[in-house]
Amino acid sequence: MSSPLAHPTTVLLTGATSGIGAALVPRLLDRGHTVIALARRAAHLPARAGLVPVTADLTDLPGLPALAASIATDHPGLSVLLNAAAVQHAIPLTDLASSPKMLIEEAALNLTAPALLVQALLPTLLRQPDGAVVNLSSGLASFPKEAGGLYSATKAGLSSFTTSLRWQLEATPLLVAEVILPLVDTPMTAGRGRGKISADAAAEAILSGIDARRTMIRVGAARALPLISALAPWLGRRLLRGT
Ligand SMILES: NC(=O)c1ccc[n+]([C@@H]2O[C@H](COP(=O)([O-])OP(=O)(O)OC[C@H]3O[C@@H](n4cnc5c(N)ncnc54)[C@H](OP(=O)(O)O)[C@@H]3O)[C@@H](O)[C@H]2O)c1
Repeated sequence: MSSPLAHPTTVLLTGATSGIGAALVPRLLDRGHTVIALARRAAHLPARAGLVPVTADLTDLPGLPALAASIATDHPGLSVLLNAAAVQHAIPLTDLASSPKMLIEEAALNLTAPALLVQALLPTLLRQPDGAVVNLSSGLASFPKEAGGLYSATKAGLSSFTTSLRWQLEATPLLVAEVILPLVDTPMTAGRGRGKISADAAAEAILSGIDARRTMIRVGAARALPLISALAPWLGRRLLRGT
């Protein structure tokens, strides 16, 4: 089977306005794909041939099935869903005054929204000969971060969801891939962490992984995590706790 991106196709990319998503947009367009770029600030993306901005708030969960249905109607050739939108709040769970709204939005955007998009778009994706669902996960799915308890939990949930989805679709040609990223230099990580890779490097690695039809696309330092998990999980906990 060839890469889902081997020939010009239609890609729905969430989180297209910033960081890794924004680095993926020009690369996908340069390859001749139509990119449905979904984010709240999608209208601010510079116009380019092949770019279809869709302004939407993915925390509006009840509205997502209808939104996905209208995208599928307008783009029946949609073959790749790339779930990159997420938010990371540093919420001190001991602070009862901190906003429950932030927790609700973080869980909705990072975990429930990708699941709803997958469910609503599967009939369209499965009609294509070489489709893919690609979910952006994190090393924090394996070893949580102290200040990002819910974020880490949503990435662990997304990782688990992606594995279950892959099993459910084993008999189909759809590639179901999880991307495990290290720290990437984006607005999400501004002002923290060391040894970050660039969003451009992350985007290149994601596309190479999809091209190779890898189901686990481990990028940069995240490639060491399986070994650390097997041999020294205490080290993984120590390294990622303060990231
Ligand atoms: N950066 C890292 O070190 C790192 C590490 C591991 C994993 N990841 C994962 O990689 C992905 C991209 O991260 P990033 O660092 O590139 O993040 P980012 O620069 O903060 O971009 C987040 C994107 O999500 C969109 N978004 C936020 N809230 C939204 C909402 N309510 N509705 C629709 N879209 C929304 C934003 O667009 P609008 O504001 O226009 O809506 C933006 O395009 C995420 O899944 C993240 O968890 C990142």
